[in-house]
Amino acid sequence: MPMNRRKFLGDTIAAAGGAVLGPGAATAATASSSIPQVIPGAVPASEIEGARFPDGFLWGMATASYQVEGAWNEDGKGESIWDRYAHGVGHVKGGDTGDVACDHYHLYKQDIALLKRLNQKSYRFSISWARIQPDGIGAPSRKGIDHYKRVMDAVLEAGIRPFCTMYHWDLPQWAEDKGGWPNRDLAGYFADYAGILARELGDRINVWASFNMPWAFTYYGYGIGIHPPNRAKFGDFLKALHTVALAQGESFRALKAGSSKAAVGSAYSMAPGYPKTQSEADVAATARYHAMNNTFFLHAALKGEYPKAFVGEPPYEQMGVKAGDSKLMKAPLDWVGFHYYTRRIVSDSGGGRTGSPKDSALHYGTEIEADTGDTNGRDPYTRFHAVMPAEGPLTHAGLEIWPKGIYDLVTQISREYDHPPIEITECGCCYMDTPYEKEGGRVPDERRTAFFKGILAELARAIADGAKVRAFHAWSLMDNFEWTDGYSQRYGLTYVDFRDQKRTVKDSGLWYGRVAGSNRLAL
Ligand code: FCB
Repeated sequence: MPMNRRKFLGDTIAAAGGAVLGPGAATAATASSSIPQVIPGAVPASEIEGARFPDGFLWGMATASYQVEGAWNEDGKGESIWDRYAHGVGHVKGGDTGDVACDHYHLYKQDIALLKRLNQKSYRFSISWARIQPDGIGAPSRKGIDHYKRVMDAVLEAGIRPFCTMYHWDLPQWAEDKGGWPNRDLAGYFADYAGILARELGDRINVWASFNMPWAFTYYGYGIGIHPPNRAKFGDFLKALHTVALAQGESFRALKAGSSKAAVGSAYSMAPGYPKTQSEADVAATARYHAMNNTFFLHAALKGEYPKAFVGEPPYEQMGVKAGDSKLMKAPLDWVGFHYYTRRIVSDSGGGRTGSPKDSALHYGTEIEADTGDTNGRDPYTRFHAVMPAEGPLTHAGLEIWPKGIYDLVTQISREYDHPPIEITECGCCYMDTPYEKEGGRVPDERRTAFFKGILAELARAIADGAKVRAFHAWSLMDNFEWTDGYSQRYGLTYVDFRDQKRTVKDSGLWYGRVAGSNRLAL
């Protein structure tokens, strides 16, 4: 019986807070009772205490250009689809925009100093394509290139590995005006951009990810229109999927041609799927979900074909697939990157009506649906129904905390793709803790520390069981512009006061810094 979501949210915030205060991570005493209660999904304290990470493990933090940079029209930067969208009315909560964000464009030196102070070994950031090619294809903007050269110099000087995501959702508006990702030409434009980056910055950057969450930005932007460019046409989504798969392969080759040191992968959104029942139909639907949401682009790159995400053959014609495309999609990625936030329970949608698109929006933000018992399908092609359960505690953004999910996901990907090197590209949680004046202005965000303890303990277990995970990037270095939620969600390990840009490392950030310095969690 699904639980009332609001009630559950209230209950579980108390429980999650108690997890670090109580006798063990798996139990907590609630205000109303001194009897310890088991928190569903919690990791036992003994596992957290025993967790160890290998020498040389790359502890890192992540950001993305539009979410932190600001300076939206400085130094000749072109407009991106996120600039256009956020400037429109009614798109972002509170009318917030990324015009200033964390002003990282100007404050990058102090932010990199913060990474160093917290013993970080890897900084995952993204480049704004519209700074590099403000007006269209062709020669890059010197000012754009020089900015990122300076940022990279600061990162390298701090002894930190730069990890560059080439595309974290801020498509130049000129590319959208040419039809956006459903237009196949964008694969070539993206490869040109990748080549420019490799030639100009390849002396400083070795690790490249082509896309952040390719399934998400194609689906939200073109399939259901909850992100820019705000289109809701399933056919456009199918075409965008294919262009991005081509762009992934083409940019891989452009990077390799431009820089002999380039080690290329991508940063996928993944959430492990568990069948709702053991029926053949639900188990098969879970496999389709996994193929569509988790491994669609990874499989396209490694195998040169799409995984079995569809009922029957992929809709090649609607996707715009041409003879010979398999070769273009194929790219032997050097490593596999994915995020972990939460999990899904999946059932077969029974081929019924297609449902209203937002019924099954799988965003990591607030529009995730709780389990309402609704069994309508998402579309006629994949016919699965995936929901986020609410058995474990929920974060402020309403995401279920399920530490074991990262173990299941990492071991599944390791099995399915022959134990590739894995980088966890993002993992984090939203809580709204603020500086506590009575305690010298520190930010006592125990729930975030508890979140990371559980998940990292499960990641250590996966590594001990043979998974080749070499890096973990916490989302995020600092509070920032959280897409359509604006500044109303805080994922940072550093608190940002957006009135004066003051940064305060939260208690979780200080703890994470100690983790990075010692490769253990019980600190
Ligand atoms: C991920 C996005 C990142 C941020 C976090 C909370 O899905 O890649 O930009 O929004 O969620």
